[in-house]
Amino acid sequence: MPLIRETIVVTADAAGRAHIAPLGLIAEGERWILAPFRPSATLENLRARPFAVANLTDDARVFAGCLTGRRDWPLVAVGAGFRLAETLAHWELEVVEIREDAQRPRFVCRVARAETHAPFGGFSRALAAVIEAAVLTSRLDLLPRAEIAAEFARLKVIVAKTASAGEAEAFAWLEAKVAAHGGP
Ligand SMILES: Cc1cc2nc3c(=O)[nH]c(=O)nc-3n(C[C@H](O)[C@H](O)[C@H](O)COP(=O)(O)O)c2cc1C
Repeated sequence: MPLIRETIVVTADAAGRAHIAPLGLIAEGERWILAPFRPSATLENLRARPFAVANLTDDARVFAGCLTGRRDWPLVAVGAGFRLAETLAHWELEVVEIREDAQRPRFVCRVARAETHAPFGGFSRALAAVIEAAVLTSRLDLLPRAEIAAEFARLKVIVAKTASAGEAEAFAWLEAKVAAHGGP
């Protein structure tokens, strides 16, 4: 399996409006592949404008927020798009090849520019737990309810032991969405 980096990807539509979504970047040599599922705004935007900004952020609230209707995070213009105003680093990605696929087209990108804005602050078990919970939340219609309940119970222990206020808030947003969906 290839290396995957979980990032916040900002794309723009034909009118130039920004769209924020968590996306895994798949490594392929010096390239990164964006693989948005059909249908998605990220996919449409990449077809309209073959450019994206991947944000390397340790803010758990942005990952959880995008999945719970909180997409309004401050942005600043960079290159042909936008980055998060607060991010540790960002990569400006240019699509150099599109591999069509019925479910998940692959947009192969080169890094046109990379910038670091703040130092890495160390590992956080709670952040990793929120990202796992966010992935589960993005698959509520695909995964068995019992599996989601068991995973959330396990992740909740880690969050209770190690979370910052922001990480605890992010986990609570995801729990509320899962509860509204009918479980766990
Ligand atoms: C950590 C993480 C990684 C994700 N990676 C992908 C991905 O690689 N491709 C994808 O289509 N959705 C991915 N998702 C789900 C999308 O963020 C979510 O479905 C999003 O709303 C995409 O749809 P949109 O572009 O219409 O907003 C991921 C979610 C999380 C939390």
